[in-house]
Amino acid sequence: MSFDVLSVREDFAILKREINGRPMVYMDSAATSLKPRPVIDAVLDFYENHCANIHRGVHQLSQEASELYEDARYTISRFIGAMEREIVFVRNASEALNLVAHSLPIDGAVLTTTAEHHSNLLPWGRRNEVIVVDISPTGILDLEDLARKLKGNKVGLVSVTHVSNGLGVINPVKQIGEMARAHGAYFLVDGSQSVPHMPVNVHELDCDFLVFSGHKMLGPSGVGVLYARSEHLESMEPFLLGSDMISEVHLDGFKLANIPWKFEAGTPNIEGAIALGVAVEYLEDLGMDAVRAHERELATLALEGFQQMRNVQLLGPTDPDIRSGVITFKRPNIEAHAFAKLLSNRYSILIRSGFHCAQPLFETLGAGESCRASLYLYNTTEEVAALVSAVDALSQVV
Ligand SMILES: Cc1ncc(COP(=O)(O)O)c(C=O)c1O
Repeated sequence: MSFDVLSVREDFAILKREINGRPMVYMDSAATSLKPRPVIDAVLDFYENHCANIHRGVHQLSQEASELYEDARYTISRFIGAMEREIVFVRNASEALNLVAHSLPIDGAVLTTTAEHHSNLLPWGRRNEVIVVDISPTGILDLEDLARKLKGNKVGLVSVTHVSNGLGVINPVKQIGEMARAHGAYFLVDGSQSVPHMPVNVHELDCDFLVFSGHKMLGPSGVGVLYARSEHLESMEPFLLGSDMISEVHLDGFKLANIPWKFEAGTPNIEGAIALGVAVEYLEDLGMDAVRAHERELATLALEGFQQMRNVQLLGPTDPDIRSGVITFKRPNIEAHAFAKLLSNRYSILIRSGFHCAQPLFETLGAGESCRASLYLYNTTEEVAALVSAVDALSQVV
């Protein structure tokens, strides 16, 4: 259950880049991942050999493009244990969340958590009361508070992230789903930071909805996925109206296409979806258990290293069993952006700084802005050692 990280790295041309004369160390994969050669080739192949609109023409190219697009849907459905008709292509996780918030009749409040990405907070407030579940000082979800809030309120939907993009906390989503279901609430999992990094199966999670973005899992930008149980997709009204999502249009009415197409109005990101299918095949070839094991090993090293630093505050839990490869830290009295810039300028290590699109999380913790190194399958133990030593060295001098 492992893979050869050096041979994996050969597939990522960008890893050969240098910055300021040093090899680049990319540790911002929670923002977006790098793309391997087969994914880039899939985009080129579409434009060079199969460029046509889908589901419209009877000509050969249109047939080929439609087939590649629908094959990608099949590949993605298999990857998460869903049926093809339960996979809706959208632009990204944010759009998937907005689609559900717009189209699902939710009877009651939406229960979410303090630790969510803004995209899993803001859409719900448009039509429903939003109640947030508390977290511990290390960002761990308070299950007792969840139980209390489920019991004390009429909750129509529980929507939580599987893995926090701010602190890397892995939430016990199966248990949360059981609690939601016991109270008759729908259950949505934001898989943006889990689907790229570990095995995720919608039947095991027993969720009603799962959302994720292609660009964080080796795929191109501009394509993401909404998984929804087919009965929900059947009953939900589409968010957008227009071409391709209808089977008939008359001046006095129209008939919707079947699911999932009734949610895909207009020409989609065809090459993006096809290339996302290729990204999924790439991940399947490596094996998601192996990806998780590799990242767990990297996270363990990083967590050990950061815990030994006297001038640096590590945020989030230190147990690698409940932490992804997201390592968040701050050097008190130094602005996070300034620290990240120093890491880039002096060490060519690229990390993110700020609130990581989870401002309420960091405000609740009283942490303010922080630095976040986020690891992926192409990172090495040597790179993690370089990060630890660079952060330690910098925090002595600045
Ligand atoms: C947990 C989580 N949810 C949602 C999103 C939104 O993803 P996107 O910007 O691709 O819509 C992100 C992106 O960072 C995320 O980490």
